[in-house]
Amino acid sequence: MAEGRRILLIISGGIAAYKSLDLIRRLKERGIAVRCILTAGGAQFVTPLTVAALSGDKVYQELFSLTDEAEMGHIRLSREADLVVVAPATANILAKMAAGIADDLASTALLATDKPVLVAPAMNSMMWGHAATQANLATLEARGVRRVGPASGELACGEIGPGRMAEVPDILAAIDSLLDAGPLKGVRALVTSGPTLEPIDPVRFISNRSSGKQGHAIAAALARLGAEVTLISGPVRLADPAGVKTIHVESGREMLGAAIAALPADVAVCAAAVADWTVSNASKQKQKKQPGGAAPAIELALNPDILTTLSEQGPARPRLVVGFAAETETVVEHARAKRQRKGCDWIVANDVSPATGTFGGDFNTVHLITAAGDEPWPRIAKADVAERLAWRIVDALKGGG
Ligand code: CTP
Repeated sequence: MAEGRRILLIISGGIAAYKSLDLIRRLKERGIAVRCILTAGGAQFVTPLTVAALSGDKVYQELFSLTDEAEMGHIRLSREADLVVVAPATANILAKMAAGIADDLASTALLATDKPVLVAPAMNSMMWGHAATQANLATLEARGVRRVGPASGELACGEIGPGRMAEVPDILAAIDSLLDAGPLKGVRALVTSGPTLEPIDPVRFISNRSSGKQGHAIAAALARLGAEVTLISGPVRLADPAGVKTIHVESGREMLGAAIAALPADVAVCAAAVADWTVSNASKQKQKKQPGGAAPAIELALNPDILTTLSEQGPARPRLVVGFAAETETVVEHARAKRQRKGCDWIVANDVSPATGTFGGDFNTVHLITAAGDEPWPRIAKADVAERLAWRIVDALKGGG
């Protein structure tokens, strides 16, 4: 449990600083002690008095304040926490962190800390997309700094795009997974999700209507339980889940390549609706109408089966490989046969017959098919299917089941 743990929260200068006030309240409600550093920029958006009142502690602002240094030096400040959270993290503070600059209390504490650091970036989308910011983030992530967000949406500057600070529940989930050492701490998970897109030519493609909802929910649920999750997603209209490393791909071949590159993993969940066929005679140039109106012939070839390939990795095979099956009749028999054929450990079989309302809906009726047999689950929300599956994965990996 996170109760009794201590967080050093660094509030840097962004309009999203107001959300950090709510973050402090929610952390305190969970019994987590919060000590805050407010940068000079941060103090333009929220007052030290409000931060002090909510955190129930003194607010630290100055690097060379005699009283602060006498009471607690910046080194102690950064070490007496279990986790350092920078929210909002501006482009400026990320740049300082990447370069190792220590010119104020916040950046000095960040350089001096030996504790895990979580950043919640918040900035204008041009600043977020700038090569400098992206390079700084890559540097920080390579050093083990964890990130939550940013989300996409309307920004304070009136523009629309990525750059909004992650919402407080997402920051809390990221904090939980870092503090709690959740039941899947140390477990590497690989999840595929969404449709694939198979090009016919540079502007046309074959795809399907998969939304990615179920796969993304599974990735998020595994991350909430502490797993280090790589989500390989085809083109979807969903935000990247918080606390998950998301790799965007288009074709089935790209998805397979990304899945193999994400190994080793302890568990793989293949929830993607990979197109069964790819276009083997895709043209490099846009196809033009033929004189006389003859339609071009599209030749199809089987796409590689990612689930089967992962199941056949020999020593590199994840300990648990989970596939999905969409069935409309004799659900259990079909899914059992699919489990055998694909060599995976479990199949989550969706009953997609029209009476269930699964397609397009938020509910799902599934059977979990394992070596031990068939387990019918009640009709529950797709998010709950994800949660329940994640806990079954905990049992299997930790209980040896
Ligand atoms: N799968 C995969 N790679 C493919 C095709 C499917 O990884 N090229 C995975 C899916 O992610 C899913 C499972 O295999 O976990 C579904 O298998 P599939 O044979 O496509 O079955 P259904 O979609 O259920 O349909 P059907 O049996 O009618 O082919």
